[in-house]
Amino acid sequence: MMEGYNPYSLAGKTVLVTGASSGIGRATAIECSRLGATVVATGRDEVRLGETMAALTGEGHVSILANLTNAEDVARLVSELPQIDGFVCNAGITRRRPVSYVKEEELREVFETNTFAVFTLTKAIMKAKKMNRGGSMVFISSMAARQVTPGNAMYAASKAALESFARSCAQEYAPMQVRANAILPGMVETPLNKQGVLSAEMIERDKQNYLLKRYGKPEEIAWAVIYLLSDASAWISGTSMMVTC
Ligand SMILES: NC(=O)c1ccc[n+]([C@@H]2O[C@H](COP(=O)([O-])OP(=O)(O)OC[C@H]3O[C@@H](n4cnc5c(N)ncnc54)[C@H](OP(=O)(O)O)[C@@H]3O)[C@@H](O)[C@H]2O)c1
Repeated sequence: MMEGYNPYSLAGKTVLVTGASSGIGRATAIECSRLGATVVATGRDEVRLGETMAALTGEGHVSILANLTNAEDVARLVSELPQIDGFVCNAGITRRRPVSYVKEEELREVFETNTFAVFTLTKAIMKAKKMNRGGSMVFISSMAARQVTPGNAMYAASKAALESFARSCAQEYAPMQVRANAILPGMVETPLNKQGVLSAEMIERDKQNYLLKRYGKPEEIAWAVIYLLSDASAWISGTSMMVTC
């Protein structure tokens, strides 16, 4: 191997990860630090965010507590943010209900978290000029945006909007040499899927729909995120990457 040659490395890059206190976001923060990034980790839960920070490799990482649906928190997060070379908009929630039974407040909660908060944060970071030239935006959408299942309309629609938003960002920020892409994970083993809606039997049956007969692991999404943050994906923008099998 040629010494020092690794376009997949994140050495020298500073990366913001939202939803870093759990699941995919936590694994992304940890894996990014292992690949050499300085991580800015954000989430709402102080204890779990602290656990993520304790698991990071290397020095200089920062944690910032923020509720991304709260305008003041977003303003403070962006003002405390150092210059970054990439961000991963990963924070998200799910609520399941058939369309006829959708509750207005749940619909708003899902869109405010999964979609509107991402618009607001992206806009604030770009207006504050915190993203370096050559930076990369990664938006965690979902396979649910394309493969809809009954009862998942709120979540699916919010994630479809996010996938589209990634393409808009790719267009608008290309003049600044900033790339933007969406990742669409299949089902991943995280607390998000342990909310007791699906029975253990339903989950086992669902796993049989996957080629490898299992759900993904959080770090298997993180590795795709790292590719899109790294220089190895320097000529990839405005795309969606499905991470599923
Ligand atoms: N798991 C899957 O199967 C799967 C599949 C496809 C896509 N995804 C997407 O991947 C992302 C991560 O999911 P996950 O499975 O890792 O979920 P998770 O374990 O439930 O973690 C969700 C994260 O989002 C944060 N969050 C939620 N609302 C927030 C808010 N208002 N402000 C700030 N942070 C907030 C949470 O922070 P706190 O806990 O600190 O409040 C937590 O860190 C989500 O966008 C999800 O839709 C997941």
